[in-house]
Amino acid sequence: MQRHLLLICVAAIMLIIACAVALAASPSSSSVFPVDRDLFKFYPSLMVYEKTKANFTEPETCAGCHQQQYEEWHGSLHSLAFVDPVYQGEMNKAVKAVGKEIGRHCSSCHTPAATVTGEVSGPGLKGLSPVAKAGVSCDVCHSVSSLNHCRTPSKEPENGSLVLRPGEDGKDSPVLVKRGPHKPAEECGGGFHECKQTDFHVKADLCASCHQVYHYDKHYPLEATYLEWKHSPYAQKDIHCQDCHMVDHDTFVKTADSMTKPQRKEYRHYFNGANYLLYFLSAEAAKKSGDKQQSVRLMKQYEMAVKRLQKAAELEITPDYRNGRLAEVKVRVKNIRAGHNLPTSLTNVRQMWLEVRATDEKGKVVIASGSLNKDGSLPSNVRKFNSDGMGSDTHFAIDPWVVTAFSSHETIPPKGFKDAWFGVQVPGGTKQVTIEVKLRYRQADQQVAEKLLKAVPDDINLSRDYGVTQIPVLPVVDMISLKKVVAVRQ
Ligand code: HEC
Ligand code: HEC
Ligand code: HEC
Ligand code: HEC
Ligand code: HEC
Repeated sequence: MQRHLLLICVAAIMLIIACAVALAASPSSSSVFPVDRDLFKFYPSLMVYEKTKANFTEPETCAGCHQQQYEEWHGSLHSLAFVDPVYQGEMNKAVKAVGKEIGRHCSSCHTPAATVTGEVSGPGLKGLSPVAKAGVSCDVCHSVSSLNHCRTPSKEPENGSLVLRPGEDGKDSPVLVKRGPHKPAEECGGGFHECKQTDFHVKADLCASCHQVYHYDKHYPLEATYLEWKHSPYAQKDIHCQDCHMVDHDTFVKTADSMTKPQRKEYRHYFNGANYLLYFLSAEAAKKSGDKQQSVRLMKQYEMAVKRLQKAAELEITPDYRNGRLAEVKVRVKNIRAGHNLPTSLTNVRQMWLEVRATDEKGKVVIASGSLNKDGSLPSNVRKFNSDGMGSDTHFAIDPWVVTAFSSHETIPPKGFKDAWFGVQVPGGTKQVTIEVKLRYRQADQQVAEKLLKAVPDDINLSRDYGVTQIPVLPVVDMISLKKVVAVRQ
C-alpha cells in the first residue's frame, strides 16, 4: 500500500517537473501567438533560409534556357512586386511609423531572395542587384525546398513561412538545385542546375504563405486568400491557385465553370490577377524607358486582368412586393468564378460596390445609390463588399501595421452570394420601373491612392519614370451590369 502511494507521489512530481520544463521551453510566454525565434531568424518574417555556397540567380539567366516562362513571368505582378511604386510608398510609411524591423516583414514577400541574403531591408531601389529588383522571381519559387506552415505562430501558412535553399555546397563547387513539379529527366537543368521533384509546386501550399498576410505582431489575417480558398468548393474538388492563375483567360473560365483541372500543357507563368492599375502604370513606365516589348507584355496582362474581373460575378434583380405594391428591389451578387472571396487579399483597400439607378416611365429617378461623390470618394450609404479595418483602439484604420481586426467584412464567398436591398417609392399611377445595376471595382479609394503615391521614396520619380505628374482619377472597372423592367403592381 505504502509502496503504491510512493509511486503515485513520484509520478505526480515527475508530471509537475515535465510541465515546468515544457513551460520554460515555450519561447514567448503570455502572448496569444508564441514565436519560435530560433526557427524564425528573420522575424517578423517567417521565412527560413538554408544557406549554402550556392547563390540566388537572376531571372535573365534562367531566360537563356526557359524563354517562354520568362516572357510570361516578366509582365506579371510577381516581377513588379518590389519595384511597384504603390508598395514602395506604403513600405516607406511603414518603416517611418514602426521602425526598421518591419522592413524584413514586408520585403520577405515582395523580394524574398534579397531579404534573406540581407541585401534589402527597407524602401528604395538605388544600387540594388537584379535579383533584388526581380521581386518574386523564378529562383524564389523554384528554390523552395520545404514548408513550415504548421510551425508558425498561427499554425497556418502565414508571412512567408517557406524554406529557401537555392542549392548545395557540392564537392568542388556549389551546385544549384531547382525544384519543380515534374520527375526530372536525365538532361534536366542543361548542366546549369540539378532538378528535384516536389509535391507542393502544383498545390496551393506553394502560394499559401505569401497569400496569407498576417499583422506583423498580432497575427491578425489582413489578407486571407489561402484560407478562403481552403474552405471553398474548389479546394474540395482539387482545383488550386495554379489552375486559375497559371493559365490563359479562356482556360481559367473553363476551370471555374467545369471544376476540372487544366491539362499539363496549358500551364503558363502569367499569375494574372485583378490589379489592372499597376499593369497600366508599369506599361506607361516601360514605354517611357523605350522598352516596347515590356510595355506590350504589361498591356496584355492589363487586358487579362480586366477580362478576369468581368468574368468573376453575376447579378440578379428580384422585385419585392408588399400588399401587392413594389416596396423593395433585391440585388443578388454571386461570386461565380473566383476561387476565394470576392474581392480577396487587400479587402480593406480594394473597393467593390453596387451602383443602382431606377426610373419610372417619366424618367423620374426612384432609386439612386452608389454614384461616386465629386471628390472621387464613395457615398456613405453605398452597398459595398469589402472590409473596414480597425486599430487596437477600435477606430477606423487602413495601414497594415495599424489594422489589427476588421469592423466589417462583406466579401462574397466562392460560389456563394450576398444580397442588397433598395427601398422604392413611386408616384401613384406609375406602372413600371426600369432598374439598372452595375457592379464596380477599383484598386483603392481616391484619397488613399493619392497619399500612397505621394509617399514613394526619393529615388522613384513618378513624373520621370511613370509620366504621372498629377495623380489621375482612379479608373473603375464595371465588372458586370444588368437592366430589368419590373411592374409596380404584383
Ligand atoms: C510564384 C512562383 C513561381 C515563379 C515566380 C516562377 N515559377 Fe516556374 N513554376 C511554378 C509552378 C507552380 C510550376 C508548376 C506549374 C504546373 O502545374 O505545371 C512551375 C513550372 C515551371 C517549369 C516546368 C515547366 C512548366 O512550365 O510547367 C519551369 C521550367 C519553370 N517553372 C521555370 C520558371 C522560370 C524560368 C521562372 C522565371 C522567369 C519561373 N519559373 C517563375 C511557380 C513559379
Ligand atoms: C505574407 C506576405 C506579405 C507581406 C508580409 C506583406 N505583403 Fe504586401 N502584398 C502581398 C500580396 C500577396 C499582395 C497582393 C495582393 C493583391 O494584389 O490583392 C500584396 C500587396 C501589397 C500592396 C498593394 C500593391 C498595389 O500595387 O496595389 C501594398 C501597398 C503592399 N502589399 C504593401 C506591403 C507593406 C508595406 C508590407 C509590410 C508592412 C507588406 N505589404 C507585407 C504579400 C505580402
Ligand atoms: C543551361 C540551361 C538552363 C538554365 C540556365 C536554367 N535551366 Fe532550368 N532546366 C533546363 C533544362 C534543360 C530542363 C529540363 C526540362 C525542360 O526542358 O524544361 C530544366 C528544368 C527546369 C525546371 C523543371 C523541373 C521540373 O519539375 O521538371 C525548373 C523548375 C527549372 N528548370 C528552373 C530553372 C530556374 C529557376 C533557372 C534560373 C535560376 C533555370 N532553370 C535555369 C535548363 C536550364
Ligand atoms: C514569395 C511570396 C509569394 C509567393 C510564393 C507567391 N506569391 Fe503571388 N504575389 C506575391 C506578392 C508580394 C504579390 C503582389 C505584388 C504587388 O502587388 O506589388 C503577388 C501577386 C499575385 C497575383 C496578382 C494579384 C493582383 O492583384 O493582380 C496573383 C494572381 C498571384 N500572386 C498568384 C500566386 C500564385 C498562384 C502563387 C503560387 C503558385 C503565388 N502567387 C505565389 C507574393 C507571392
Ligand atoms: C476558380 C478560379 C480561381 C482560383 C482557384 C483562385 N483564384 Fe484568385 N482570382 C480568381 C478571379 C476570378 C479573380 C478576380 C476577382 C477577384 O479579385 O477576386 C482572382 C483574383 C485574385 C487576386 C487579386 C485580388 C485583388 O482584388 O487584388 C489574388 C491575389 C489571387 N486571386 C490569388 C489567388 C490564390 C493565392 C489562390 C489559391 C489559394 C487563388 N487565387 C485561387 C480566380 C481564382
